[in-house]
Amino acid sequence: MTEMFTGSFTQQEPIPDEGIEAALTVLRHGRLHRYNLAPGELGEAALLEQEFAAQMGAKYCLAVTSGGYALSTALRAVGVKPGDPVLSNAFTLAPVPGAIASLGARPVFVGVTGDLTIDLNDLAAKAGQARVLLLSHMRGHICDMDRLMEICDAAGVTVIEDCAHTMGAAWNGVPSGRYGAVGCYSCQTYKHVNSGEGGLLVTDDEDIAARAVILSGSYMLYERHLAAPGPEVFERVKYDTPNISGRMDNLRAAILRPQLRDLDQQVARWNQRYEVLEEGLRGVPGLTVIDRPEAEVYVGSSFQFLLQDWAGDKVQAVLRRCAERGVELKWFGAPEPHGFTSRYDSWRYAPTSPMPATDRVLAGLLDMRVPLTFSLSDCALIARIIRSEVGAVFQKTANS
Ligand SMILES: Cc1ncc(COP(=O)(O)O)c(C=O)c1O
Repeated sequence: MTEMFTGSFTQQEPIPDEGIEAALTVLRHGRLHRYNLAPGELGEAALLEQEFAAQMGAKYCLAVTSGGYALSTALRAVGVKPGDPVLSNAFTLAPVPGAIASLGARPVFVGVTGDLTIDLNDLAAKAGQARVLLLSHMRGHICDMDRLMEICDAAGVTVIEDCAHTMGAAWNGVPSGRYGAVGCYSCQTYKHVNSGEGGLLVTDDEDIAARAVILSGSYMLYERHLAAPGPEVFERVKYDTPNISGRMDNLRAAILRPQLRDLDQQVARWNQRYEVLEEGLRGVPGLTVIDRPEAEVYVGSSFQFLLQDWAGDKVQAVLRRCAERGVELKWFGAPEPHGFTSRYDSWRYAPTSPMPATDRVLAGLLDMRVPLTFSLSDCALIARIIRSEVGAVFQKTANS
């Protein structure tokens, strides 16, 4: 009998009861705007920032409307101006180059390796071209951060980390987002905590933090923040920093606080699922599983593998055959972007020369979401389906 998978790749877990209760409290009192506080009240948004700063070991934290907004705010706060070149990954999601473009700045793309991390040799070669790197830990793969910081420090490049896929991850014991000058996180439904939309930004730099708070739309109410620098720092920046409204509200913050308290447990659950998939897909002829470095603590909320140097029609055959059995795979090598699969040559507003080594990796790159609603046996079943369909197509190719 042919095994079928019938689960949904887009169904997340419900919001925990504690989050629902906290949200109801906010709805009942009606003070959703973060600065709308009763006497003595601190507010869910300010508390969220205080707690996340402590969790990440950061001095300052700001909660905003989305991960993409956190990225553009970080770029503005470190001083990127219209027309400036900004280094970034050739392989990431569209909101990353989009954040650069939103300032009228210009993405300069750096290639990807077969480990799915930024190509550090390409970065070293291009580091002289820009003052800022917007580094995306795309799909949760973290490069050698010590080496990356060496390259960037030597070239005077400020690093902003896009941790949309690495909230809860670490490199060499340092939480993801804490190597660079700024770390940005997404709280959108498909990420590691879910408030529908939302973003968080952390930094230890008081000027960046103060600018970010004003940029996010604090008016002159910045003293209501609990994880922001003192008023003397705001005095330095308040007349020169525009308000580009993008505040987090108390409702979303209320939903997020209990989820952040559970983050480590959720990471462990994701990684159990990831390990089952990894185990099930190791040793499949023609399929390469991505090895995870010792120094990396990852969050297995998505899974990638390579069908390296396969012809496009064969990759498409695998996608079709898996889809017929209920397994939704995304292909970053497709000539046209579908859903969220985009890459440097999909962003024609930022023209760049062809990047053959990157193209080769992306041509064979398949990806799937791993929501926590999947059980371990679901993951084992998904791995069996992929294994058999990759095997069937590979066999035919070998025999033809
Ligand atoms: C790698 C990456 N960076 C940034 C973002 C932006 O996050 P948000 O959707 O919260 O704006 C996303 C969202 O999908 C993403 O996948």
